[in-house]
Amino acid sequence: MERDEALTLVRRYVASPSHITQVAPAVQPLRPFGPTRSFATAAIMKRVAEHLDEDAGTWEVIGLLHDIDYDLVEGDMERHGIEGYRILIENGVPEEIAGIVRRHNHLLTSGYGRPVEIALQAADSASGLLIACALVKGGAIDAVTPRTMKKKFKEKSFAAGCERHRIRLIESLMDMDTFYRLPIDGLMEVRGDIGFA
Ligand SMILES: [Fe+2]
Repeated sequence: MERDEALTLVRRYVASPSHITQVAPAVQPLRPFGPTRSFATAAIMKRVAEHLDEDAGTWEVIGLLHDIDYDLVEGDMERHGIEGYRILIENGVPEEIAGIVRRHNHLLTSGYGRPVEIALQAADSASGLLIACALVKGGAIDAVTPRTMKKKFKEKSFAAGCERHRIRLIESLMDMDTFYRLPIDGLMEVRGDIGFA
């Protein structure tokens, strides 16, 4: 599946504008999911895949699609992922991708072992942490360094809604210091799409 096809689907099902102002301020717990986060998560998935020599195009598409039921479930985490799976299957998206979307809701699924699923957990949560870091830096992604990420990761009261344990899963694939660079590079690439200058 191509990125453009995934974007068309996301725009059909997710009406909320993918603008940074839709994300809660850094001092508040970040929303658990949403369209801005989908763009950011996709960009991080692509970077992680490239780093691991995996299929970057498919991983990016999975990042884009993973919260496609955002508007439909209206925050109901009991349905999140399940409805996304249904939407994707109805639209002819391969089981391989749709199944990963279904399983990504960590409140309903556990035991992620596949690199793509581990990366999705880490990318999804890291996107929230990085966006929060950027907001306190005046909205500049490139003002955030891996060192900033590391520091704020440890500061549990910062972006308290960011589930650090999901980011930490990436340690089975790479060390944390290596990982911290990837979200920053990823978001720099899509900063216009998510409302950053
Ligand atoms: Fe989600």
